[in-house]
Amino acid sequence: MNQINITKTTHSKINDVDFNNLSFGSIFSDHMLVCDYKNGKWETPKVIPYQPITLDPSSKIFHYGQSIFEGMKAYKDSNNNTWLFRPLDNWKRLNISAKRLAIPEIPEEYFMEGLKTLLKVDEAWIPRNEGSSLYIRPFVFATGQGFHASPANAYKLIIATAPSGAYFSGKVKVLIEEKYSRSANGGVGYAKAGGNYAGQFYPTQLAIDKGYNQVIWTDDNTHEYIEEAGAMNIFIRINDTLITGPTSDRILDGITRKSIIEIAKDEGINVEVRKITVKEVIEASNNGSLKEMFGAGTAAVISPIAGYGYKGNDYDLPELEDTFAARLKKRITDIQTNKAEDKFGWRYEVK
Ligand code: PLP
Ligand code: COI
Repeated sequence: MNQINITKTTHSKINDVDFNNLSFGSIFSDHMLVCDYKNGKWETPKVIPYQPITLDPSSKIFHYGQSIFEGMKAYKDSNNNTWLFRPLDNWKRLNISAKRLAIPEIPEEYFMEGLKTLLKVDEAWIPRNEGSSLYIRPFVFATGQGFHASPANAYKLIIATAPSGAYFSGKVKVLIEEKYSRSANGGVGYAKAGGNYAGQFYPTQLAIDKGYNQVIWTDDNTHEYIEEAGAMNIFIRINDTLITGPTSDRILDGITRKSIIEIAKDEGINVEVRKITVKEVIEASNNGSLKEMFGAGTAAVISPIAGYGYKGNDYDLPELEDTFAARLKKRITDIQTNKAEDKFGWRYEVK
């Protein structure tokens, strides 16, 4: 790969940002990484000022939705060092998504060197206050032109970043879905494809209208098994056992999920990765053994669920003093922000 060219902005926006009051993903750092795929190969990425892009109306992204993305975070520690969390897993998953959407895979060096260069240029944008971080959004889409329904011959990888606070404000209430499906066997559910999210918006809006924040997706075939939430994987605690569904071609293989499984085991918590039915959860609610439910994801970190709805009934989760959610959230965020030992080797310093 050739040297990454950097063009710096002449008008930094950083002084307009209130780092003590950050929402999620709504203000964007000064620069972005851009990498084009043309003539059968990825070109050397470049860092340029954050700016709009111009596309031909026949670009295939608009017609056939060839679009994938990732979600990551950069953190600052008290010594002002910059850390990522398992970034190679995001790169690998981006390529798993790319393959499924017939998008050419991105070489590791382009992704990692590009990301590190961008983070160094926009280092001042990485929040230092607790609970905030720099949300990183790598995305790839088809710029190649034509109405023919076939994969494009040109693509763009962009990495944009946004200093961000919490994804959810307040308690999360979820609706267990009985009718709509997020994904199906043989489908695209395991990929981080833009279309997976577009397909969720309408049923999620119906749930929001009823007072819930997110939908918990169930399997498309029977709607009997809990799968995942709109933007996070789901964990359920029955008595002192922590349960999460197995990944499949319908479910996103979350990096937070697999880290939580390892941390929980390390904490001595009994973890079961197995299918779990809605019926089992409702029975546990009714007999008092359902202790906690929480979502896990990069944006959401660990978001405790306060209650859920199913078939017109609402079920509240108990309010416990010491929760697995709080314990696991502390453990993972301490690793991410270099406050605790990282025996798993997940932390990655940007130097
Ligand atoms: N499931 C879905 C549908 C998501 O969008 C996300 C967010 O990335 C996750 C799960 C959690 O994945 P990760 O922990 O890798 O962010
Ligand atoms: C993430 O957690 O990074 C995600 O991509 C979820 C997103 C839909 C906000």
